[in-house]
Order: sequence, then structure tokens, then C-alpha cells
Amino acid sequence: MHLIQRPLDPESAVTPREVYESRRRLLAGAAALALTPAAFAQSGKLPKLAGAKSMVAGALTMDKPTSYADVTSYNNFYEFGTDKADPAEHAHTLRTRPWTVSIEGECNKPGVMDIEALLKLAPMEERIYRLRCVEGWSMVVPWIGYSLAELIRKAEPNSRAKFVEFTSLADPRQMPGVRSGVLDWPYVEGLRMDEAMHPLALLTFGLYGEVLPNQNGAPIRLTVPWKYGFKSAKSIVKIRFVERQPTSSWTKAAQQEYGFYSNVNPSVDHPRWSQASERRIGEGSGGLASLFAKRRPTLMFNGYEAQVGQLYAGMDLKKNY
Ligand code: MTE
Repeated sequence: MHLIQRPLDPESAVTPREVYESRRRLLAGAAALALTPAAFAQSGKLPKLAGAKSMVAGALTMDKPTSYADVTSYNNFYEFGTDKADPAEHAHTLRTRPWTVSIEGECNKPGVMDIEALLKLAPMEERIYRLRCVEGWSMVVPWIGYSLAELIRKAEPNSRAKFVEFTSLADPRQMPGVRSGVLDWPYVEGLRMDEAMHPLALLTFGLYGEVLPNQNGAPIRLTVPWKYGFKSAKSIVKIRFVERQPTSSWTKAAQQEYGFYSNVNPSVDHPRWSQASERRIGEGSGGLASLFAKRRPTLMFNGYEAQVGQLYAGMDLKKNY
């Protein structure tokens, strides 16, 4: 893996968001900022930047990040309702402390990990990724986290572990949407082991230099940038190593529409719509303007083909949608 070194950034934690956003725009494409996990855990804000930090080569996008307001108010988090505005409105009832993640299944080191321990497990990095929703819209988000592989290595999966299954919290007292039958709760997703180990798969704790807002999947979520957004399970409480391919909630709900792989693929249409292009949230300024804003072509593997294409060499991606 080719790593990029960046000079120290002396700016302090409490950078006003506008300054931060414009600074991020300048840096987009190359930079990675390291946060000391302890400082991040304590303050929830971007602490003094600890130093230059390595980055997965070529993974960051040059695209302008979507505004913080849009990233945190246009969400899919069905546990809080099915409208895009529901999660921002209702997710304040989610209690993110105490929080534990149970590590289970085919591994040598199963156990229950506290969120504070997870925050300190590896240095945080900022990763600016595109997020492409299966519904045909996309965003660019400066996430904060570390590679899921860091946690997986600590759990020491055994040779029977072929897949990893992720389970989200499903508590009807905190999550009004769980009382509805829109999905078979809890929300479950899965990755093949090599996908989960790919350094781009990000265990995510923050965005825009802050801890994750509840509506974005606090306190811990997954971000798998080359797959449709629904693979990126939010508010995770269980990670299980399994021998058989897990059945995700969306596959259960509509198998013909949401397959296990869910790789972003402009040449494989969803049965009810084309996946060839996408609307970038925030482009055009609302109302008619956004209706007529130009759609962008969707890129194979959401633009991460150079990094992840090899994982699927020889596979029929029309069958394995
Ligand atoms: N995780 C859970 N637990 N519940 C959900 O409804 N929605 C998925 C994914 N993770 C979802 C979830 C979908 S469809 C998308 S597009 C992304 O979260 C959206 O993430 P964002 O709101 O942070 O942009």
C-alpha cells in the first residue's frame, strides 16, 4: 500500500465550520489528518492535530464535500423513520453512552468491547469518501475513523471465518421506526472477509471533525465507499465472524433488488431504475434548480475501482449484484 505523508497542520480543535469546510476543500484529494483517539473521545471536536498521518493512496476524492447541513439532515436511518428528514428530527432519543459492541463467532478473541476502548484502538484518520445511495443520490463526506481491518486483526478470526456480519441496535424505546414493519429488525449487513479487510472499509466514529451525529449512525458505523450506502450499517452493536454468507435486511426485504455484493455499478440497473447516473445532494440550490441540476455519471465501484477492482476479478458482477 502506497502511503502519503503530509506536513503538520497547526490549527487547533475549534476551527469554525466554514473555515474548516473551505480548508477541507483545499486539502481534498490528498490530505489525511491524524487525531489522537483519546482527545477525540473526550472532546468530540477536532483536537490539536497530532501530526502527519498516512492515507490510503488515491482513495480521497477531489470532489467538494457536501455541506455539513446536508450531510446531517438528508439521511437514511429507517430505525428513526423513512423520510429523509426523520433521522435528524427523531434521533436525539438515541443514547450513545454507555455503548458496547459484541465481537462474536469464528474468532480467537471474542468479547464485548466498550465504545471508549474502540475509540482508542487505532489512530483516527480523516477520509473524504463519496457515498452513493442505491436510490440514485450521492454525497461527499469527510469521515473520521480507522480501517475496520484494525479491529478485525485484534479479534483474530479463525480459518472458518469467511464473512463478517454487522448488526445495528434495534431498541423500540429509542428508535420509533423499529415499531414499524418496514424492515425485519435488527438491521443486518455483511461483507466477505477480504472486503472487510480492505483498508478502504472504514469503522467510522465522526464526520466533519466531530463525533458522529446520531442521525449518521452514532456512536459507531461502517463506511464502505465502493458499495451502495445501505451496506454501511449504522449504530453497530454486534460484529460476528461467520462461515456462511449473511443475509442482510435489505436482501430479506427484496432479494431481486438488493443483492449481497451491492457494488456500485453503473451498468447493472436496479430492477426499477437505472444506476447509470446520480444526483449530488446540494447541487442546484433546492426547488426547481436542484431538479434541473445536471446528473453525474455514476462510476464503477463508485470511483474506487483502482483500489478494490481486484477483489472481484473473475466474478460475474451482473449475477453478483
Ligand atoms: N443503517 C441502519 N442501521 N439503518 C438504515 O436505515 N440506511 C443505509 C445506511 N445504513 C441505514 C443504515 C442507507 S440506505 C444509506 S444510503 C446510508 O446508511 C446513509 O448514511 P448517511 O445518512 O450517513 O448518509
